[in-house]
Amino acid sequence: MKKTADAPGEPSRPPPELGVGVGVGPGVALAARAGHNGTAGRHRFVVVASRLPVDRTESPDGEAQWRPSPGGLVSALEPVMRESGGVWIGWSGDAGPAPGPFTANDLDLVGIGLSADQVRDYYEGFCNATLWPLYHDVIAPPEFHRRWWDAYVTVNRSFAQAAVDQAAPGATIWVHDYQLQLVPQMVREQRGDVRIGFFNHIPFPGYEIFAQLPWRRQVVNGLLGADLLGFQRRSDATNFLRACRRAAGLVTRGATVRVGDREIRAAAFPISIDAEGLEQIARRESVRKRSAEIRLALGEPDTVLLGVDRLDYTKGIPVRLRAYGELLREGRLGPRVVLVQVASPSRERVGAYRVLRDVVEREVSRINGEYAEVGSAPVNYLHQSFPREEMAALYLAADVMLVTSLRDGMNLVAKEYVACRYDESGAVVLSEFTGAADELSGAFLINPHDIDGVKDAIVRAAAISPADARRRMRLMRRRVREHDVAYWARSFLGTLAGEPVRSYGGSGRA
Ligand code: F6P
Repeated sequence: MKKTADAPGEPSRPPPELGVGVGVGPGVALAARAGHNGTAGRHRFVVVASRLPVDRTESPDGEAQWRPSPGGLVSALEPVMRESGGVWIGWSGDAGPAPGPFTANDLDLVGIGLSADQVRDYYEGFCNATLWPLYHDVIAPPEFHRRWWDAYVTVNRSFAQAAVDQAAPGATIWVHDYQLQLVPQMVREQRGDVRIGFFNHIPFPGYEIFAQLPWRRQVVNGLLGADLLGFQRRSDATNFLRACRRAAGLVTRGATVRVGDREIRAAAFPISIDAEGLEQIARRESVRKRSAEIRLALGEPDTVLLGVDRLDYTKGIPVRLRAYGELLREGRLGPRVVLVQVASPSRERVGAYRVLRDVVEREVSRINGEYAEVGSAPVNYLHQSFPREEMAALYLAADVMLVTSLRDGMNLVAKEYVACRYDESGAVVLSEFTGAADELSGAFLINPHDIDGVKDAIVRAAAISPADARRRMRLMRRRVREHDVAYWARSFLGTLAGEPVRSYGGSGRA
């Protein structure tokens, strides 16, 4: 098996008193040498993520209610949160004051409030119109505005302060993603006693691209407040280490970088899904019935192709539509084929996302206009989000899953499809530029910039023999089941706690 952790070896410092396996052990031993200011909180495990793991709804009398937002991250971290008395710090997604500490679904939550200006300058601006395009290889041009940067610093400071306030002496703090890259250092400045991990869910770009960021040194220094930096792919970790050398003038050794007397490790920990939980949903009678209904509603086609994406320019939806349109024109998929494209609404106030929506919807109507017959259309386009049960039914209904991202940190949709295919049928067409391509060796790999290659792969996947499908699907299913999201969380937290670094690529569970 391929190793994806950078230079695994012995832990670089003495094992800590904290035992972060699945649970976080008592932080009492560290309290004695804690460097904090004596105002620490009570939580031994603190998750700091852009979003809360709940969505706000309103009861008929206008009272705020919180509904769990199903997601891999929360299902992975829930057991750790419960065992260790954890707390989750995040934003609700709406402009307005913070809801204050509250409990939902038995989890302790702390909301961060963002003003309307901060939503515009921090979330829509610096996070999603500067960092997002920059970190995805400038597929869309990033914009650099000093006002947006100032908002990013201010909002990161709010998250960091909340973490400082909530963390018990010697706590473990796990910060997530590109929205919060300054938090590790901001916490470190106030709390020498805590252990800090950071995981980047999106790619970390090559230095020639990262170097465009006017605040590149500050971002590197912000991240280096952590003890362990996790990335999706080995190349992301390598890119980060190079940024440490070039932007901050630091010396790196293997997978580590030294800052004063601290040694910081950067390695790959590819994220995954709750494969078992999703498979259980897919096996439900109601879901299987729904999947048959979907095929019936589509007119019982011979082949159902499926795309499931946030409507984001990184996902390569126009490429997929173009390839599909040409295949229809050439008749290479036969007459009884349907593409179902779920494009869930995302970041709709950001310019590049509005432009993309127009492009995609124009192309869908062009294809349908040209090839539809009365009562049936070759593209079923759904600009909506669906509950997990409906998604599982769609995955079961699809013969071929299409993932044509131009750049993607991981792409969990590919893994979700595989987890649902318990009868070992189906095929995946998968972009090389996704983290998932490192793991799903049974997929038909494509370069999304090579339209002819994409077309050929779709044709091969649609015509796959049952035996070949089984062989490929078995390989992929084993990988996804063994390296599920719980494995990911355990590997990261175990390494953060100073357990010997394991090869992430190993087939056994940690
Ligand atoms: O890592 C990418 C990510 O930030 C995910 O955490 C999230 O699900 C997705 O992009 C959408 O993000 P948001 O709606 O918060 O902008």
